[in-house]
Amino acid sequence: APADGAAGGHHDGGESAAAGGTTSVTALTGPRDERPDRRFTLVAAEKTVRLASGRTVRAWAFDGQLPGPTLRVRQGQLVEVTVRNELPGANVAVHWHGVDVPNAEDGVPGVTQNAIRPGGTHVYRFRPDESGTHWYHSHQQTSVQQMKGLFGALIIDPPKPAPVDHDWYLAMHSWKTEDGATVPALGLADRLERRRAAPGERVRLRLLNSDRLTHEFSLTGTSFRVTALDGNAVRGPTPVSDRKLAIGAGGRYDVEFVMPDRPVRLTEIQDFVGARDRGLLISADGRGEVTPDLPSREFDPTPYGTPAPTPFGPGSRFTRTKTMVFDNEIGFYDGRFRVTWTVNGMAFPDAPNLTVREGDLVRLRFANRSHFDHPMHLHGHHVLVLSRNGRPVTGSPVWLDTVNVRVGEVWEVAFRADNPGIWMDHCHIGDHAVLGMMMHLSYE
Ligand code: C2O
Ligand code: CU
Repeated sequence: APADGAAGGHHDGGESAAAGGTTSVTALTGPRDERPDRRFTLVAAEKTVRLASGRTVRAWAFDGQLPGPTLRVRQGQLVEVTVRNELPGANVAVHWHGVDVPNAEDGVPGVTQNAIRPGGTHVYRFRPDESGTHWYHSHQQTSVQQMKGLFGALIIDPPKPAPVDHDWYLAMHSWKTEDGATVPALGLADRLERRRAAPGERVRLRLLNSDRLTHEFSLTGTSFRVTALDGNAVRGPTPVSDRKLAIGAGGRYDVEFVMPDRPVRLTEIQDFVGARDRGLLISADGRGEVTPDLPSREFDPTPYGTPAPTPFGPGSRFTRTKTMVFDNEIGFYDGRFRVTWTVNGMAFPDAPNLTVREGDLVRLRFANRSHFDHPMHLHGHHVLVLSRNGRPVTGSPVWLDTVNVRVGEVWEVAFRADNPGIWMDHCHIGDHAVLGMMMHLSYE
């Protein structure tokens, strides 16, 4: 299939030699002595920006841009990013979401590094093994700082990227505006944005959900192929139409289509009434109208694409297995009425931490009994989906870094413990993580 390898690489979870003994987290750094192939600087500072509608946001931004600058590199390059903190009285640290970096480069303050204080800098170095659509965001008080704008795209090109005529990255976010509203937008476009593409041209949309809830999209006027999930290429993607794409917080979908001779429209259909006035309209001359679709069925990646061998699978011998049941408790805590998000009945720091030994093959079962989606993000590892709601994966292998376990769902995933350190494992909805759904994965 022509799109294989278009926008993502497979993560093969290869075996690495067991370290043996105890390793200090700070020793698990990226290459420190070699010359970097790419150097970037990101300066975090406050900045007031204007949305397309004219509403203003008192944001926190990298380099004054919202989203932050797109870092585009090639797979295997040694990347160096210097982060400077010019925020007003707040610490910062940057996490490379979707890239399995060495532990000390992972950007989790208090776990893998000390937070960067105002006026301070920190240098990150890593050599990405993976390709595809990834992103970076602040991991200091993530629920606040990421929502204020401290995030951007990290796009890693494979050695032979499939050529397209338009390669557009779109972040679905909601902004807290200065007039007190919460405004959903694609980037800064909180109303319909128009772009041009000529009939016959190939268009790739890299959709990122940088928001705090699941977003559903429709693409009207064309069939399309889903070419990558969380930056991992789908093998043999076939055209689909009339399906909504549900992307969990933190997740990425790459979709591709050939521009037809009429306009195409991307719509975020969560709030269908309001969504009519937002989204992206692509046409040859930048004009035209399209009435958005409201597909009734959701695109399911698990029976999609062509099966291929994986380094492990449902029949492998797992050396660790763990079930995590997600739920919520409602009641009075510290004199306030709150919701607590729990894993096996417990909230962080009592939630069940995961301890592994290097080389372990770990199977996790996620069951969501609560009334909200939980996009579970494991740092430092990609997981292979074994089954969704009891049905095994019959299509292309599905490798994810963020598994959006929707209400009532049960997913089984597996990963190879091949990246020693202490890693976060949490719901990517910041408020859920803060109120309980946060765990550590550590190597013994
Ligand atoms: Cu994208 Cu721990 O986060
Ligand atoms: Cu959650």
